[in-house]
Amino acid sequence: MTKQIKPGKSEYQADKSRYDNMQYRRCGNSGVKLPVLSLGCWHNFGNVDNQDTARDILTVAFDHGITHFDLANNYGPPYGSAEENFGKIFKKNFMPYRDELFVSSKAGYDMWPGPYGDFGSRKYLIASLDQSLKRLQLDYVDLFYHHRPDPETPMEETMLALADIVRQGKALYVGISNYCAEDTKKAAILLRELKTPFIIHQARYSILDRWVEDDLLDTLLQLDIGCIAFSPLAQGLLTEKYLSGIPENSRVAKGSIFLDEQAVTANIEKIRALVAISRARGQKLSQMAIAWLLNRPAVVSVLIGASSVHQLQENLSAQNNLIFSEHELDLIDRASRS
Ligand SMILES: NC(=O)c1ccc[n+]([C@@H]2O[C@H](COP(=O)([O-])OP(=O)(O)OC[C@H]3O[C@@H](n4cnc5c(N)ncnc54)[C@H](OP(=O)(O)O)[C@@H]3O)[C@@H](O)[C@H]2O)c1
Repeated sequence: MTKQIKPGKSEYQADKSRYDNMQYRRCGNSGVKLPVLSLGCWHNFGNVDNQDTARDILTVAFDHGITHFDLANNYGPPYGSAEENFGKIFKKNFMPYRDELFVSSKAGYDMWPGPYGDFGSRKYLIASLDQSLKRLQLDYVDLFYHHRPDPETPMEETMLALADIVRQGKALYVGISNYCAEDTKKAAILLRELKTPFIIHQARYSILDRWVEDDLLDTLLQLDIGCIAFSPLAQGLLTEKYLSGIPENSRVAKGSIFLDEQAVTANIEKIRALVAISRARGQKLSQMAIAWLLNRPAVVSVLIGASSVHQLQENLSAQNNLIFSEHELDLIDRASRS
C-alpha cells in the first residue's frame, strides 16, 4: 500500500518490518551486503517524470528492504536530473535513514561538452563525482563506478582516480561497469595494488542477454568480486506488457533510443514461450526473470527499474519462488535461444 506524503513535508517513516522479507548477499570479498533486489534510477526519475511517483517508488522500495539505489551522472533526462530529483526526495524523506542506505553513482559516458566530460580521465571522474555529490546533496556516495571502459586513457590513470576518490572520502567503495573479463582482471590488479575496495561489476545480464556467461562471470568468481545484473527484464521485454502490442506509456511507446518496436517483434516468440514456463511455475515472467538471475554464479543483486509502485511490488514478489528444477532451467535455455 502506497503511503501518501504531503509534498514538502518530511513525514515519511520507513516501515518497521522493512528487513523482514528481503534477502541480503555479501558482495564479493567485502564487508558489504546488498539486497537481492536493488533499484536503478536510469529511467523514471528525470525531470520528464512524475516526482510523486518517483518518491513513492523509492519509499515503497525501502519499506521492502531495498537499501541500494543506483544512479549515474547522466541519468534523466535531462542529464543530471535523476540525481537532482533523487537528492530532493532523499533530503525530504530519507535523511534519518542515510546510514541504512547504499547509494551509487557513476561517470564514464558523455556528460558535458568538450574534451573533459566523457570516458575515463582523472579530470573527468573527479569533477563528475563532485557534481554528482552536489546534485544528490550527499557528502559521499557508498559506491562509485567507472561506467564504461575507455580505450584511450591508460587504465592506471582511471584506477588511480578511483583510488583517490576513496581516499578523499567521496566514495566508500568502487566498481566498474561494462568492462570485459580481461580488462576487469587488469583493473582488479591495479586497484589491489592501490589498496582500494573494488567490490562490484555492474553488467547487463538477463535471460535474453547472456554475454557475461562467456568469461566475465568466471573471472568475477575467481577475483571474488560481486556481479550486479542490470536491465534484468531486458528493459521490460521480459514482462507480459508487450504480449498484445505496445502499451501507452511503456518504454517503447515513449520512443526510447535503447528499446524499440523492432526489439519487441524480434523477441516476441521467445517471450511467449517464457511466459508459458513462468505460468507453470506460478510466477509472472518478470518474477521468473529476476529469480533466474539470482541463481546465476557471482550475481549478488538484480538491479531493476520500475515506472510504477505496482511494477516494483510485482518484481519484489520474485523472491517467493527462487528455486528452479533442472527441467525448468533447460526449458528456459531452449525458449530463450530458439
Ligand atoms: N551500467 C550501465 O551501463 C547501465 C545501463 C542500463 C541500466 N543500468 C542500471 O540498471 C537499472 C535497471 O535498468 P532497466 O531500467 O533497463 O531495468 P529493467 O528492470 O530491465 O527494465 C525496467 C523497465 O521495465 C518495465 N517494467 C519493470 N517491471 C515491470 C513489470 N513488473 N511489468 C511490466 N513492466 C515492467 C518498466 O518500463 P516501462 O513501464 O516504462 O515500460 C521499467 O522501467 C537502471 O536504472 C540503472 O540503474 C546500468
